[in-house]
Amino acid sequence: MNKNRTPMIAGNWKMHLNVKEAGELALALKKGLDPDLKHEVLVAPTFTNLWAVHAALAGSNILLSSQDVHWEEKGAFTGAVSPSQVKDAGCTHAIIGHSERRKVFLETDEVINKKLKALEEREAQQTFRVLETQLTGAFAGLKVEELPRVVIAYEPVWAIGTGKTATPEQAQDAHLFVRRQMEKLYGKDYANRVRILYGGSVKAENIDSLMSQPDIDGALVGGESLKADKFLRVIHFQEVLAR
Ligand code: PGA
Repeated sequence: MNKNRTPMIAGNWKMHLNVKEAGELALALKKGLDPDLKHEVLVAPTFTNLWAVHAALAGSNILLSSQDVHWEEKGAFTGAVSPSQVKDAGCTHAIIGHSERRKVFLETDEVINKKLKALEEREAQQTFRVLETQLTGAFAGLKVEELPRVVIAYEPVWAIGTGKTATPEQAQDAHLFVRRQMEKLYGKDYANRVRILYGGSVKAENIDSLMSQPDIDGALVGGESLKADKFLRVIHFQEVLAR
């Protein structure tokens, strides 16, 4: 972390939990949250649980996000949910372009670019090439003024749900690369401001060392965000200020 950027810890609940369970988890997080916490906490339940979680989080600062969003506002798009619909259900954020959306639902950079407009490798070269293509594709045609609230998540696909995490140094290298790409696209000022979260088997045991890296501004947490006690430990990471 870097004291000029507010860290964010985000829980991606994926396709887990029913309405009751999601509401209970939200209440447990609300109860366990340090009231003086200075950074942002966000949860992303499935669409069907958004409204219940929104109600459960009332009175807390925990932010709500959908796990995806369509690029059109309304129309004949069976199965899709629009930006204004998730906003209406209490969301301030939406995750777009998750690697599972790319892999399982065959989303392309063009599709992700459309969504962004509406609102695996650990062989070094390969990683950087993939990152460059994805960032250039997803941000194509977007001006810096349109991006004030964008938060980027870097997640090596081999680390998602596998229990294998990148070392803090590997993650830092990739984050710095992402920041440099953003600098190429949008200049130094924006690159220094944009928050980049790390994701892929983030746990209570590894969050502190990840957060000690200067370009890691938070985490996108899957499995570990489904257990209140574990996720609360991740949220309350030890603030060892990076060099
Ligand atoms: P994981 O998932 O923490 O279970 O690896 C992270 C993610 O896919 O966002």
